[in-house]
Order: sequence, then C-alpha cells, then structure tokens
Amino acid sequence: MKALVLAGGSGTRLRPFSYSMPKQLIPIANEPVLGHVLRSVRDTGVTEVGLIVGTRRSEIEAVLGDGTRYGVRLTYLPQDAPLGLAHTVSVARDFLGDDDFVMYLGDNVLPDGVVDIAREFTASRPAAQVVVQKVADPRAFGVAELGPGGEVLRLVEKPREPRSDLALIGVYFFTPAVHEAVAAIRPSARGELEITDAIQWLVASGAEVRASAYEGYWKDTGNVEDVLACNRHLLDGVVARNDGEVDPDSVLVGAVRVEQGARVLRSRIEGPAIIGAGTVVADSEIGPYTAVGRGCVVVGSGLADSIALDRASITGVHGLKGSLIGRSAMVGTSGRGADHHRLVVGDHARVEVAA
Ligand code: TTP
Repeated sequence: MKALVLAGGSGTRLRPFSYSMPKQLIPIANEPVLGHVLRSVRDTGVTEVGLIVGTRRSEIEAVLGDGTRYGVRLTYLPQDAPLGLAHTVSVARDFLGDDDFVMYLGDNVLPDGVVDIAREFTASRPAAQVVVQKVADPRAFGVAELGPGGEVLRLVEKPREPRSDLALIGVYFFTPAVHEAVAAIRPSARGELEITDAIQWLVASGAEVRASAYEGYWKDTGNVEDVLACNRHLLDGVVARNDGEVDPDSVLVGAVRVEQGARVLRSRIEGPAIIGAGTVVADSEIGPYTAVGRGCVVVGSGLADSIALDRASITGVHGLKGSLIGRSAMVGTSGRGADHHRLVVGDHARVEVAA
C-alpha cells in the first residue's frame, strides 16, 4: 500500500499565515502539521508516500527532505492548481500505479492513529473505505449515510439538510477502482473535482464502499481556532524536560519542555508548554497551553493558550491569550503613552485588543 498526502491547496482560511508559508507547516506543539501526518502514515506501516504540493513546494521540501526523518520515502507530486481532492488522485496516477493507497489530508491531525482502520481496509479491500466521525453540525462536511453493516449508501458534500451526523474526516482508503471514478466525474459548482463525488460514483456503480468510525481526537487545522485547539490537545502529551537553562529565579510548573539552548530568566512557565530551542524568556509568564518556537524572544510579557512561531519577539505585553504569532513577527509597546497604538499589520491579519 502507498500513501498520498495532500499538501497543496490555497489555505485561504489560514491567512495571513498562508501568504508566507504552506499551512501544512504550521507548528503544533512545535512540530509541523505534516510531521504529525507523516508519523501517522508511517504507523500504518506505509513508507512509500506521494506528497501533493502546490506553489510552496520548496519550503515543504526544505523541511521534510526525502522523508527519512519520519521513516518514509517521499515523492513530490506537483499540482499546477488546487483543482480538488479528486484531482490530486489523477495528478498522482503514475506514482500510485495499481496499488491500494491511503489518501491523507496534509492539514488533518488524528493523534490516536488509523492503524486499526488501515488493517480493516487491508483485510477486506472494499473499493473505498472512508473514515467518519460524529459532528455537531454536519453541514460543513461531506456527510455519509450508512446501512446497518457500515456500508455507505450515499455521500453528500456539505448538505443543507444532512441525513446523518457522520462527517467524512481527512483519511480515505482506496483500491485502484477509484481511478475510473475520478476520470468519470466533473467539477462541482465550486469548480473542484470532489473526492466525495468520486466515492459517490463508486457507490452508484455498485462498488463496495465502507465507513469506519474514528473515535479518537481529530482536528482539521484549517483555521486559527482549530490550530490552537489542536495545539492544546497535543501539548497535553508533553513530558517535562529541561535541555536548556533555567535560572534559580524562575519557576516551571507541570509539564514544561525547555529545548536546547533556550534560556528562562526570572519567569514562571506553567505547563503544558514548550519553550523552543534558542529562545529567550525573561521576566515573563508563559502558559498553560503555549508553544513558543525556536529563536524567539519573550521579555516582560504574559502569553497563554498560544503559539509563537520561530523568531517571533514579544516585549512588554501582558495578557496575550489565544494568539497565533507569525515567524519573526514583533509584538511590543509603542512607548508613546497609554492611548497610542501603532499597528503594522499584514493583509487579512486579525488584531483584537482589550476593550
Ligand atoms: P482544504 O483545506 O479543503 O482546501 P484549501 O487548502 O484550499 O483551504 P481553504 O479552504 O482554507 O482555502 O484542503 C484539504 C487539504 O488538501 C489541504 O492540506 C490542502 C490539500 N489540497 C490539495 O493538495 N490540493 C487541492 O486541490 C485541494 C483543494 C486541497
């Protein structure tokens, strides 16, 4: 079996980050989303991975290389434009050959793994096996209607009146039967070749399509709130460890990981939290549920339930919560009085100040 991991797309919901980086490299608990994805793929025993990339291939390649670090072998598959999930299958046609494969959305995190579901698929090899989870509002998802034995009777993309609460989540298993389906479907109203349409085509043609329920934690990290929620969840797995330097005037409470070369001075860090390699934290309060990237500077500030990406600097600002601070971004005080705010904020950025 092979894997097809999708790391193209436009990432509009994660602007402004997606203007300067592929959203699949956003760090969650200080590991790029794609790192979590590749480990999950590897856990199923699959090592041959085709990675769909769009315009940001070079940045992804610089981080993942040939995949050795994650125990997989990566083949980069450029997609000219984000024409849909089913389109990526046709882009990968030669790579996939006549093998079965798992398609894994490169911005979806399933930390509890899909090993059992992969095993189920390999044992019975239906034409397609989708992974579903009960959601509160299925209208934003592909929705599956199932028969009594778990067989898929119908799939509808973002239905206005959902007939079930089972949403398709970002992992799909296919035999080569899917290629005929992908070739047969036409673009949807939003101009994309939808994978739900391809699977529905299989159902309509009488092929066996099954669904497996994934009961574990799942997050599509497509927007800021979900990135932060996923960060909270993954930080819960952090183990206390100090590879940096913590001065005697600082306090670390709970699961705090201080990475190599990081320095913590006169500060209180409440876990779960990670202080990235080479970062300096002084006279600050950090955490809980906070991941600070590499080479950051946090001075005289307070940061909780947040992610700071590499080389961000935060100076003299208390009360930062639920924040996602980009690479080399600077958050500080104006030094011109209490009623003087100065903003240099990029397109589609979001600033919320205390009212
Ligand atoms: P989405 O998050 O559904 O699409 P998107 O990246 O365009 O995001 P947005 O809605 O915010 O604009 O895509 C799911 C995953 O699949 C994501 O990792 C991007 C990837 N993808 C491709 O690789 N090629 C494609 O043609 C599409 C549509 C998505």
